[in-house]
Amino acid sequence: MMKSTWMLVIAVLVLNGARTEGDSEPCAKIHTSSSVVPLGSPVTATCNIREDCLVGLGQAVDIEWRLGSELILSSPAANESNRVSRVVLSSFNYTRAALICCIRASSQVVAGVEIRAGYPPETPQNLSCQTNLTYPDTLNCIWDTGQQDTHLPTKYTLHTEMRDSRENHTYELPPEINHYSIPRTDFGLFSDMNIYVKAKNDLGEATSAHIVLEPVSAAKFDQPIIAKIGVQPKRLGCLKLTWSLSKQQSWIRYLAVNLEVRLKTAGSDQWSDPPIPFSQVKLSKPVVECCRLFHGTQYLAQIRVRYKQSPWSEWSSSKSGVTLETAPTGRLDSWMKVSRNHTSKKLNIQLFWKPSKLFRANGQNLSYVVSQQKSYGERWRMCSTSETRCSFQLSGRVRKVYLSAVNSAGKSPPTEIRVYQPKAHMAIMDVTAVPHDERSFLVQWTTEVISDLIGYVVEWKPLLKTDLSHIHFQTVNKSQSSLIITGSFEPYKPYGISVYPRFKDGIGSPQTVNAYLRQKAPSVVPKIQIKKTWESDIEISWDEIPLEQRNGFIKGYKVFYWDENGPIKVVSADAEDRRVILTDLNTVSLYEACMMVSTFGGSLNGSTIYFKIKPFDAVTVVVSVTGVGVGLAMLIIFTVLICFSKDKNYVNMTLRSLCPPPFPEDICGPAQNFVAG
Ligand SMILES: *[C@@H]1O[C@H](CO)[C@@H](O)[C@H](O)[C@H]1NC(C)=O
Ligand SMILES: *[C@@H]1O[C@H](CO)[C@@H](O)[C@H](O)[C@H]1NC(C)=O
Ligand SMILES: *[C@@H]1O[C@H](CO)[C@@H](O)[C@H](O)[C@H]1NC(C)=O
Ligand SMILES: *[C@@H]1O[C@H](CO)[C@@H](O)[C@H](O)[C@H]1NC(C)=O
Ligand SMILES: *[C@@H]1O[C@H](CO)[C@@H](O)[C@H](O)[C@H]1NC(C)=O
Ligand SMILES: *[C@@H]1O[C@H](CO)[C@@H](O)[C@H](O)[C@H]1NC(C)=O
Ligand SMILES: *[C@@H]1O[C@H](CO)[C@@H](O)[C@H](O)[C@H]1NC(C)=O
Ligand SMILES: *[C@@H]1O[C@H](CO)[C@@H](O)[C@H](O)[C@H]1NC(C)=O
Ligand SMILES: *[C@@H]1O[C@H](CO)[C@@H](O)[C@H](O)[C@H]1NC(C)=O
Repeated sequence: MMKSTWMLVIAVLVLNGARTEGDSEPCAKIHTSSSVVPLGSPVTATCNIREDCLVGLGQAVDIEWRLGSELILSSPAANESNRVSRVVLSSFNYTRAALICCIRASSQVVAGVEIRAGYPPETPQNLSCQTNLTYPDTLNCIWDTGQQDTHLPTKYTLHTEMRDSRENHTYELPPEINHYSIPRTDFGLFSDMNIYVKAKNDLGEATSAHIVLEPVSAAKFDQPIIAKIGVQPKRLGCLKLTWSLSKQQSWIRYLAVNLEVRLKTAGSDQWSDPPIPFSQVKLSKPVVECCRLFHGTQYLAQIRVRYKQSPWSEWSSSKSGVTLETAPTGRLDSWMKVSRNHTSKKLNIQLFWKPSKLFRANGQNLSYVVSQQKSYGERWRMCSTSETRCSFQLSGRVRKVYLSAVNSAGKSPPTEIRVYQPKAHMAIMDVTAVPHDERSFLVQWTTEVISDLIGYVVEWKPLLKTDLSHIHFQTVNKSQSSLIITGSFEPYKPYGISVYPRFKDGIGSPQTVNAYLRQKAPSVVPKIQIKKTWESDIEISWDEIPLEQRNGFIKGYKVFYWDENGPIKVVSADAEDRRVILTDLNTVSLYEACMMVSTFGGSLNGSTIYFKIKPFDAVTVVVSVTGVGVGLAMLIIFTVLICFSKDKNYVNMTLRSLCPPPFPEDICGPAQNFVAG
């Protein structure tokens, strides 16, 4: 709207100019206090119509004012006389508008001016400059202009003053641009500069805070490079890093920089924190050494650099190195399960172990040796393995075995393990295991008070995996009666958790519970078998669901059955029972039935089956033909009467559902697994 009015004003001004022949002076003029004002401030304007213009209108001309297309109603301060009119706008609240003066009678525009309003610039904030050392080097400055829109073209100038060379520069930027790259010719890498920004528009100017910097210390170096990681002879637990600046920055030679190294062991996802600092590292001697690391361990390293307080470079890419190996140190925790072999009169031993908190492998390729003597010789060695378990036999006389970890640099001091005869002692009363979080179980137990009890061993394993490598254990002391066990537990899979009492002279009998981290509906519904029939009742039973398909503890079973008109009847069986009797059946109706099996995490319905009880006579015939055993006679499926079979599973077959059955989804759902037979 404003724009089109402004076009009109220009048109009128041109027209009026042309009206006064031979003279380009316009017919009328508007004088304003200012054509750019702070938003909301008053504006005063006077419209002056020349005497020789608009002849014929007489001396007194009726003048009116418009702001844009809006008529300004006789403002109290405005008056008219002798072709002069004055207007006062108490608060100019447009950012840009045309103020027009017209002849009231004809609405003819005689003069117009554009008035703009806005704000003076805000002080530029957060001026910062960073040197880019990649050829051609630049010094890049950026600043914040502030939140408020000034509504007016605001120009920025960047000023630099060199301290020593006394050379100053001013860079004029296009309106609204708030960053600039100072070319290399205009700054010295090592001379301090004073830098600031000025913002200017028609209403004022503002100068930012000054910053003083040495361009090289405002440089963020490229990612440096670790050229090599090595070890020096005899420097145990140390890695030597040789490094350099990036290729593009290799021309920088004579600086001393600050450097940081961060390390992590291979396989860990945590970098060492804080990083290891090195100050004043000369680019001419680019080697640093990190010590106090684990022996024989593979590390990944990254470095970053900066000059003085400049921003840190990004971390370099990783390079790996291995510290010098030494023999393993520290204890191994062990768990020995002993049973008597009645054929060989020896002891069957299953020995499991794992590193204690203080154990250090100090090498890459760890293996273990179990022997009967402290310093193992071939004759006495029972196992040599890279696994953390071993099974062997011992004569009943052997009292101790020794376990050592071995790497290429040597073997650890042996861990002594007492061999105890199996004991039948009971001590543990109640064991419970419940999910603790997504990855762990809380195991709790109670104990009888027994004087020579010294602690417990908690052992756990997945029940669906028989391999010994899945057995885990934790030794706990006497004061504890609970333990949180964490591992790679999967939901819907059963785990066996045992608590063994430890006595001064051996291990007692365990208490064992099964546990699921999470449960869901079973994967299958069992197959139904007919056990017995009476005149109007039948008994059905079914097998347990295989462990791997249970997905939780079976809570119970329900059988729903109904005929065309009757209500739905339900009979339940608990997890152990697995049989129900369907009662009050008649020989007239066609029955439908389905079974629901539930765990503590969900339920599954089998598909619907159809059956019919035949009168006694008909059944006898069927039985005699098929020779199927007693008790099954009364139940047949009418469609299968033609399928006489010598198969022993005749009745099971006759229970097969009519496929596809028109089963009501709202009742039993479209489950497929429930097929009796
Ligand atoms: C407005 O009117 C008053 C008195 O009527 C006069 O003194 C004054 O000069 C006038 N102002 C203009 C701008 O004509
Ligand atoms: C400007 O001020 C006038 C009168 O004070 C008011 O009517 C109008 O709504 C204002 N316009 C804006 C954009 O604030
Ligand atoms: C330095 O400038 C180069 C191009 O001249 C650019 O590729 C690089 O990203 C810049 N480095 C930094 C840290 O801004
Ligand atoms: C200056 O930087 C600070 C911190 O980053 C920020 O909170 C502030 O809004 C910035 N100032 C302006 C005017 O943008
Ligand atoms: C540079 O600016 C400083 C500070 O405003 C002033 O003292 C100096 O004289 C200027 N030098 C030149 C060469 O203009
Ligand atoms: C008992 O020892 C004999 C002979 O060493 C072995 O074949 C058998 O598997 C052992 N029995 C058990 C249950 O470990
Ligand atoms: C690891 O050690 C075992 C036994 O000490 C050896 O047989 C095997 O070759 C070693 N493997 C590697 C990769 O060094
Ligand atoms: C038993 O274990 C608990 C927890 O690990 C520990 O705080 C306590 O000191 C241990 N007691 C003994 C006698 O080792
Ligand atoms: C199984 O069918 C019964 C009987 O209609 C119904 O009540 C139950 O909600 C169904 N269960 C599932 C898991 O679909």
